[in-house]
Amino acid sequence: VIEKGIATNEDLSLLEKVGPRVTKLKFGNVELETPIFMPVGTVGSVKSLSPEDVYSIGYKIILGNTYHLNLRPGMDLMREFNGLHEFMRWPGAILTDSGGFQVMSLAKIRKLTEEGATFANHINGAKITLTPESVVQIQEDIDSDIQMVLDECTPYPATHAEALSSMERSMRWATRARSARKKLNRAQFGIVQGGMYGDLRVKSVKQLIENNFEGYAIGGLSVGESKREMRRLLSATIPWMPHDKPRYLMGVGAPDDLIDAILLGIDMFDCVMPTRNARNGSVFVRSSSSANGKIQIKNSIHKSSKEPLDSLCNCYTCKNYSRAYLRHLFVAEELLVFRLLSIHNLQFLFDLTYEMRESIRSGNIFENVSEIRRIFAPGS
Ligand code: GUN
Ligand code: ZN
Repeated sequence: VIEKGIATNEDLSLLEKVGPRVTKLKFGNVELETPIFMPVGTVGSVKSLSPEDVYSIGYKIILGNTYHLNLRPGMDLMREFNGLHEFMRWPGAILTDSGGFQVMSLAKIRKLTEEGATFANHINGAKITLTPESVVQIQEDIDSDIQMVLDECTPYPATHAEALSSMERSMRWATRARSARKKLNRAQFGIVQGGMYGDLRVKSVKQLIENNFEGYAIGGLSVGESKREMRRLLSATIPWMPHDKPRYLMGVGAPDDLIDAILLGIDMFDCVMPTRNARNGSVFVRSSSSANGKIQIKNSIHKSSKEPLDSLCNCYTCKNYSRAYLRHLFVAEELLVFRLLSIHNLQFLFDLTYEMRESIRSGNIFENVSEIRRIFAPGS
């Protein structure tokens, strides 16, 4: 349901399609509002956090991963528990990525054919084949609310010819995935590919639309290209994507990228960045707490600081703990610090998308965005 689409540019016919919007998504009795960031819980846990931790920040949807969950704990167990929601006791919605991206990033030995992706898995080296059909089956066993089709995240850089043939195979796989479904009451999203070529991105969207997916993702970005390049490709792609279906930008989570993509009409994001950064002691903070929007907790300047990470943050960590204590935990390698910093980083992105939603809803996004950028993404 598109609640409000805001267009204040002269090119209304284009902005009707690309403007920022607030939408509601419903999965069973889970309702959520976009634009939203989705925490990554690759193997059935958002690293270091309990489902309650994630839910109480305000998140109602997380990611799981087909590639990982299929290897461990495997689908026999998943079926025994009627899926991942019950297995991990997560009350919100679950989106599962298809594994195409992980094959590229994790499996050292791999081969892509028309049939699918064959690779030596990263846990015990045993040979596994994922096909568009088997990936649908696995996601039905996981019982995710949103399934992603198997795709190839086109390597970067790639020539036009390489990006074309990679994209076309992903589009054939998408069509196969669409026909392979047995459970028709779950959403399935197609994934736009096309490398760094706007014309291929447009072709890819047009082919995907033929399958009438419940939503559309943009894959193959944030793979090493410049920020400017990514924005160019988003602008070339989004106007062709259906206005009345969710749009999901995969693997993107930097605050400035989120802001810019939301302005262009992206609804959903995921990225390991907030939780991975937290485990490395790198913390997002509003500009009032740091000039560049980040602090390194291990830095000795925090050694005796009684300040919270971010004085404007209302997360559990900021309400209770000083930088000095968090630095101490980090230096002493105490596991608690991973949880506390992860809670904060996830709250930060939740608050950022909350501010964007409120401004879109009130019709003030274009007046407010430079302030939001100044606070949440200084220096961008
Ligand atoms: N996550 C980030 N990028 C991609 C992509 O291109 N494909 C998939 N399946 N997942 C991703
Ligand atoms: Zn906080």
